[in-house]
Amino acid sequence: MDSTNSYAQALLSKSNPSEGTVISTYCQTAGRGQIGSRWESEPDKNISLSAIFYPNFLEARDQFQLNQCISLAVFDLVKNCLPDHPVSIKWPNDIYVGGRKIAGILIQNSLINTQIRSTVAGIGINVNQATFLTNPPNPTSLLLETGREHPLPDLVPQLCGHLEARYLQLKAGKIVPLQHDYLRHLYRFGQLASYRRTNGQTFQGIIQGIDEMGRLKVEVGGNVECFDLKEIRFF
Ligand code: BTN
Repeated sequence: MDSTNSYAQALLSKSNPSEGTVISTYCQTAGRGQIGSRWESEPDKNISLSAIFYPNFLEARDQFQLNQCISLAVFDLVKNCLPDHPVSIKWPNDIYVGGRKIAGILIQNSLINTQIRSTVAGIGINVNQATFLTNPPNPTSLLLETGREHPLPDLVPQLCGHLEARYLQLKAGKIVPLQHDYLRHLYRFGQLASYRRTNGQTFQGIIQGIDEMGRLKVEVGGNVECFDLKEIRFF
């Protein structure tokens, strides 16, 4: 299959798949990443999966709540596999182990006016891949972290279970616990670290949280600034 996200979108355009429909493959040949990038996945080594949701209870302006929910589900799976490793969520939705990326998420929403009509949540998790050609920055996998292979047929249903649990939490309006969990596991939360602005300027800042639009709030020299995805780079 070229891309599970493309497959799910094609399905949505020609039919009405049930909520919770999952497209999963062990061989994705043209995986799509964030901001038009590619997602590398060696055949039979990794999880590539897209889940379809209809979160019409959410306003479009609250999209970040869905991002938190999906990120936490992937975090839950990875943390379950790596209980003693420093697993975290790098804003907005990368899953990290220490300073290395183990999973990426591509959420594509279709909107009707101010509501979310449908969502394709695409998830790529590096499981048994040992070497990487392209995926920046610093890819890792469950195999590289633990020194052993992890069975894909066991992990896929576990991931679906975490997705369902977190989605039901969102649907039940448990926004505060979701945000609390997200911040608790946020990469570099409350730590002084180096960042770069779009204009190339570097600065030191401390991540304070997320604003209501899902932007990253960083304290810089005593002031709090909010950044969009394209406005800040992590060092
Ligand atoms: C990122 O750039 O970090 C996002 C990567 C998302 C990859 C997943 S793999 C399953 C799904 N299908 C795709 O084509 N992309 C996502």
